[in-house]
Amino acid sequence: MASDSALSGQSAVVVGGSSGIGLATARALVAQGATVTIVGRSADRLAKACETLGSQISTASVDCTDESATAAFFESIQNLDHLVISLAGGAALGPFTEVPVQGVRETFDGKFWPYFIAMHHGAKQLSEKGTITLVTGASAIAATPATASLGAVNGALEGMIKTLAVELAPRRINAVSPGLTDTEAWSRIPDDIREGMYAQSASDTPAGRIGQPEDVANAVMACVQNGFLTGLVLPCDGGKRLV
Ligand SMILES: NC(=O)c1ccc[n+]([C@@H]2O[C@H](COP(=O)([O-])OP(=O)(O)OC[C@H]3O[C@@H](n4cnc5c(N)ncnc54)[C@H](OP(=O)(O)O)[C@@H]3O)[C@@H](O)[C@H]2O)c1
Repeated sequence: MASDSALSGQSAVVVGGSSGIGLATARALVAQGATVTIVGRSADRLAKACETLGSQISTASVDCTDESATAAFFESIQNLDHLVISLAGGAALGPFTEVPVQGVRETFDGKFWPYFIAMHHGAKQLSEKGTITLVTGASAIAATPATASLGAVNGALEGMIKTLAVELAPRRINAVSPGLTDTEAWSRIPDDIREGMYAQSASDTPAGRIGQPEDVANAVMACVQNGFLTGLVLPCDGGKRLV
């Protein structure tokens, strides 16, 4: 690793860094010279991710729905320059009047609250030139039927970005909002259904394809590295929001 890499000497935490968008982001941060800690619940998954990332990586097995465990983790971090949050919880999807209210509460429990908890405790450790980047999701603006609960969660997170960009300045706070992205999150869906969904989305997207984790990681890196970006929700959806 060249010692004059853009982020050399800087530290980063990627919550959700053992898979998908978070893993690709951890890889990009390491490539720029940052020292990175990836956070997830499964120690096995973290260890496997670590093998692919090299020596500038450490891992922390923390469930960010658990506030005291998350607080203890961030208290143990001496210097934090960049916090990226990209964890995935489940979502209660389906027709609005048929999704049980409890399912919507669980959607908030799976994504909104762990993001909030990680931001709340991570922000206390953030250096003055530090950044927070949240990975939210196009459901906040896409008006796709059956996704209201996920849209509410992502919209709630995005609703904090501008306020925090002012309140926590000069620290910078942004969100990246991906469209459909090919990650392990979709591996639970049978292969033929997933491939059909990918093909349909690609044909509806101006860029002519769905996203790869590296596309979203590159957008996160723009938020991390461009010192004049703050208070932004950056779509990374191949233009799908336009059509
Ligand atoms: N993929 C897409 O199409 C897409 C589109 C729009 C938005 N997004 C958003 O992008 C984010 C990342 O998605 P992804 O597709 O990269 O997901 P993914 O591949 O399933 O990765 C999710 C990561 O989150 C970790 N995680 C889950 N719950 C956690 C918790 N409570 N505490 C700590 N870590 C936790 C997982 O590890 P453990 O399971 O071991 O904890 C894993 O490292 C999500 O917020 C998702 O909503 C994704």
